[in-house]
Amino acid sequence: MVAPKKLFIKTYGCQMNVYDSERMAEAMGGAGYVETDRPEDADMILLNTCHIREKAAEKVYSELGRFRGLKEAKPDLKIGVAGCVAQAEGEEIMRRQPLVDLVVGPQSYHRLPQMEARVREGGRALDTDFPLEDKFDTLRHRPKARRGPTAFLTVQEGCDKFCAFCVVPYTRGAEVSRPAARVLEEARDLVERGVREITLLGQNVNAYHGTGEGGDWSLARLIWALNDIDGLERIRFTTSHPNDMSDDLIAAHGECARLMPYLHLPVQSGSDRILKRMNRKHTAEGYLRLIERIRAARPDILISGDFIVGFPEETEADFQATLDLIEAVGYGQAFSFKYSTRPGTPAAERPQVDDAVKSERLQRLQDLITRQQRAVQDAMVGRTVGVLFEKPGRLPGQMVGKSDHLHAVHVAGSGLNVGDLARVEIVDSGPNSLAGRVLAS
Ligand code: SAH
Ligand code: SF4
Ligand code: F3S
Repeated sequence: MVAPKKLFIKTYGCQMNVYDSERMAEAMGGAGYVETDRPEDADMILLNTCHIREKAAEKVYSELGRFRGLKEAKPDLKIGVAGCVAQAEGEEIMRRQPLVDLVVGPQSYHRLPQMEARVREGGRALDTDFPLEDKFDTLRHRPKARRGPTAFLTVQEGCDKFCAFCVVPYTRGAEVSRPAARVLEEARDLVERGVREITLLGQNVNAYHGTGEGGDWSLARLIWALNDIDGLERIRFTTSHPNDMSDDLIAAHGECARLMPYLHLPVQSGSDRILKRMNRKHTAEGYLRLIERIRAARPDILISGDFIVGFPEETEADFQATLDLIEAVGYGQAFSFKYSTRPGTPAAERPQVDDAVKSERLQRLQDLITRQQRAVQDAMVGRTVGVLFEKPGRLPGQMVGKSDHLHAVHVAGSGLNVGDLARVEIVDSGPNSLAGRVLAS
């Protein structure tokens, strides 16, 4: 028997890339590869890259530089670049980095095995098409291996929103939703393999409109169908756009038992002037009203957000409006970034805010968010929540999992197993996690 070849994949960027890396590993499994976590053992290295900010994109080139030594030591080693940098800069990567054998975009990775065969024969391969065939379809025949208790499942890809700062509509292409039956089939398969929590993914997941029985399915309808799958205990979804938060989805948050009380709903800025320039098509007031309606449906929901500071022409008053919005919402979680100019996007051409000003604003925003996060976390003490245990903790007998609200929770000496879902009383709140006590079920 021939020893299997080894594949090392390094993943950057969002959850969609994590999902895609799993699919690429499966596709390459069909070509005789097994995964390794040691690049020095690999016959092929794949970098699954992110283009969202300049820093993320630059990492690819420095990482490639690091693999030069490996390739010199092992001339048979093949190096590939996948993901959003591959899509945006494929030709340039090929030109700048002779050691790259293969470049594959996020919509064509089901063709990896054929590309691998070509590079094994000594060629180079580039595929950044948006092919007509469905990449998910060709990836359906995968091994039925057991897996951990949580999984991502891509239901929608691409974006038609064209926010003025964002590369996603260019790297991932137009919005496409997978048919509902395919999503349900993949979910059932995951549950058979041990998964108890599924996070539905899409760059614009709440814009999901899949074909299904009886016509068009909304995300809410899909969630209700998933809610009926025996053994699937928890459903989450990310990332949502405020303008696609439909009534049925808001209602589902109040009524659907397995839909978790957590919503990532980026607003980016609290200034209407900036929101307009960002092409976000919503106002700060509209966002606040939306949050009110969501909280009316599900009072304990934890709201999470994304913020960009120092967008072109952002003044101190604009930034203050963002802080005011944050004060008004009370975030349980948030991600914040300095605006980064992205080639080809409209905002890249506009008057830029000084980097020192961006840094100072980011610091102030993050201080406020940290205080809010901590307050939301501290308020969990004394409450009872569900926790899905994902791994052993650092201390003997300790187990760590995620609460319904996505807080990390650890419990001591409980005799629990990975994959157990338990009722836990929260007894303490630390800097990054909660401590709990498992209640007898
Ligand atoms: N689809 C999601 C987010 C995709 S990108 C949405 O619509 O919200 C994730 C986050 O990266 C964005 O929410 C935004 O806050 C940030 N981001 C995107 N482009 C950026 C840029 N050019 N500079 C800084 N942050 C950016
Ligand atoms: Fe990017 Fe999200 Fe805006 Fe789409 S909605 S352009 S993914 S930030
Ligand atoms: Fe990055 Fe592409 Fe995701 S740019 S954030 S990996 S969609």
